[in-house]
This record gives sequence, structure tokens and C-alpha cells, in this order.
Amino acid sequence: MSERGKFIVFEGTDGSGKSTQMSLLGKFLKGRGVECVLTREPTDSPFGALLRACMTGRMDTDERAIAALFAADRLDHILNPVNGIKKVLEAGKTVLCDRYYFSSFAYNGNFVPLDWVIELNRPAMEALRPDLVVFLDLSPEEGMRRVSRRGETDRYETLDRQKRIRENYFAAFARFRACERVAMIASEEDKARTQENVQRAVLPLFGG
Ligand code: TYD
Repeated sequence: MSERGKFIVFEGTDGSGKSTQMSLLGKFLKGRGVECVLTREPTDSPFGALLRACMTGRMDTDERAIAALFAADRLDHILNPVNGIKKVLEAGKTVLCDRYYFSSFAYNGNFVPLDWVIELNRPAMEALRPDLVVFLDLSPEEGMRRVSRRGETDRYETLDRQKRIRENYFAAFARFRACERVAMIASEEDKARTQENVQRAVLPLFGG
């Protein structure tokens, strides 16, 4: 049997460059012969489709329903018998995931009590903890600049919210410091430099 793959999660506020850095890391690892699967939350499943409808305002519902839907999307993402993350890891592949339960603590905890969001995510935390969380950090002001340059905004993207979300991330990392491994990486303008730091944080997982 092959060794279990590694599970690496990318987190950050909007505009932090998670998806770019994750895909660069995927290419780097594949180049070193590591079989990698890239995925994201909200997922591309029917749960994720519902969440995207809520995010873009096409569907309006209660914040608790949204938080519960994120937790359901996540559990299916982990445990789906056909293509769940656990299966992929057990097949020896490494999984890189854009957002995971820390996103729920940082974002959904703004609207509903954080302790409840944590309880909702307890089954996911018990089912699958990341081997490493890569947190791409940048100032809220710089985040807003990058997001507006991209020409995208969703309901979360105002300066005050960016600030709050970043603080929520830090509070959650402190709260779970005993059981989670988090690498804090500055998201610099120079993407290649940021990527070098990401690789440096990740390589020990592969014995490098
Ligand atoms: P999306 O545009 O897919 O990703 P990104 O902002 O990373 O480019 O939007 C995901 C949005 O969903 C983002 O605003 C954060 C939010 N979100 C939650 O509120 N809770 C969660 O558990 C997750 C995974 C995401």
C-alpha cells in the first residue's frame, strides 16, 4: 500500500493570492514527482453550487443556513465515497485545498456565534486535519487594492470586513494552536518570492 498523501490547505483573506500560489505549488510538487490533486471550497458539488448562489446574491437565505451548508459541503468534500479527499489521500496522492474550516471560522463567525460554527465543523475537524495550513497574509488595505484591481467584489469585500476577517483568522489560529500547524507567509507583490517561501514551508512534509 502506498503511503498516505499530504493534505495542505491554503487560507487567506480575499486578494491574498491563494489560488495562484496553490497552483504554483501544485506544479512545483508535480515536478518533484509528487502526485497532487487541487481542489477548493466551496466545492464544485451541488452543495458548492448552492453556496455560490448565496455568495453572489442569486439566492437569499439565513446566515445560519449558509454556515451549515459550508459545513455540509466540507463533510461531503472529505467523506464522499467516490471522490472524497480521504479517498484521494489514502490512494497516496497529495491534496491541495483552497480554503477549509478556518474560512468558516473567519467568515461565517462574523454573522453567527463562533462557538456554534466551531461545533458545526467539529466532525470535519475530527475527520481530517490538515498536515499544514498555509496562511497567506497581507494588510487589509493591500487586499482591497488587489481585489479592486481584479474587478471582483463579493458581499464580503469591504475594508472593515477584510480587517475583521484577518483578525478572526488570527484568533482562530491562536485558539487551535495546540492541534493545528499553520505557516504564516507574507503575500508579497513578487509572486515568485512568495512561492519560494511557500515551498520552504511545505518541503519538510516531503522529507525535504
Ligand atoms: P470564492 O470566490 O470562491 O473564493 P476566493 O474568495 O477564495 O477567491 O469565494 C469564496 C467565498 O466564500 C469567500 O468570500 C469566503 C467564503 N467562505 C465562507 O464564508 N465560509 C467557508 O467555509 C468558505 C470555505 C468560504
